[in-house]
Amino acid sequence: MTTSETQTAQAMYFDQIIDADHRIEPRDWMPDAYRHTLIRQIAQHAHSEIIGMQPEGNWLTRAPSLRRKSILLAKVQDEAGHGLYLYSAAETLGADRAELTTKLLEGKQKFSSIFHYPATTFADVGVIGWLVDGAAICNQVPLCRCSFGPYARAMIRVCKEESFHQRQGYELLITMMNGTQAQREMVQDAVNRWWWPTLMMFGPPDEESPNTEQSMRWGIKRHTNDELRQRFVDMTVPQAKALGVTLPDPNLAWNEDRQAHDFGEPDWEEFAAVIKGSGPCSVERIAVRRAAHENGSWVREAANAFGRKARRS
Ligand SMILES: [Fe+2]
Ligand SMILES: [Fe+2]
Repeated sequence: MTTSETQTAQAMYFDQIIDADHRIEPRDWMPDAYRHTLIRQIAQHAHSEIIGMQPEGNWLTRAPSLRRKSILLAKVQDEAGHGLYLYSAAETLGADRAELTTKLLEGKQKFSSIFHYPATTFADVGVIGWLVDGAAICNQVPLCRCSFGPYARAMIRVCKEESFHQRQGYELLITMMNGTQAQREMVQDAVNRWWWPTLMMFGPPDEESPNTEQSMRWGIKRHTNDELRQRFVDMTVPQAKALGVTLPDPNLAWNEDRQAHDFGEPDWEEFAAVIKGSGPCSVERIAVRRAAHENGSWVREAANAFGRKARRS
């Protein structure tokens, strides 16, 4: 076969795998655009897991009891693990992890808009678990069927852990809602601050999401941003009711015809500004990540030296 015949055969094989809803594996041929889309998405996902340790990590030394501290510690450590799986998945596509970290630190790759916001009270720990990890589950469960094998397989374990995160948050909030009036107000305040940023986590409205169509054709994405946002709202409204909190949206109402909730529009200008690095904690998050990276350089040097020695012997 000539080179161009080989390429056509490879492209046909790729299309067949995608059409049959089977998995593409790292050694399979894939179009460059598919590879680059996945590297960008998985890197952004990995960065979000690692940066996402910060808002709650700040509360580890101030948790109100040993029980709360051990739960929170386990959760924050899980997020570190998610970041590691995902960087590894990106490496199977030929990406270099050190390079991805540099891109994050230089602002060339992004992390989720949600982690640009501060966690100002301990109720935020509960609300992040309930809403933010709840939204992460909506986003990530369909990724278990992503067409790229290593990403899909990583998501299975990640989703199991996310469901623990969501539960621990909700359980913390139930405890606080059964506490004092001040605690209930603290929960409501946290819900008011996190609700809209959580809805933004699903990304811009479908008509402003140019990559969605191609990603869906490739089986990377299974649902549009608006579909997932709707699913999240429908799932969360009864939970808010059971908890006794009000979601801060005057337009939120059950629509009998659609058999779904109508709800208001997030502030997309705020979203655009946050993504560009003008969020309340954008600068701090990167500064903390950079310091952690620099403080950890001796670990990388030691690991590299060990690796060299092991290869020699
Ligand atoms: Fe996670
Ligand atoms: Fe999580």
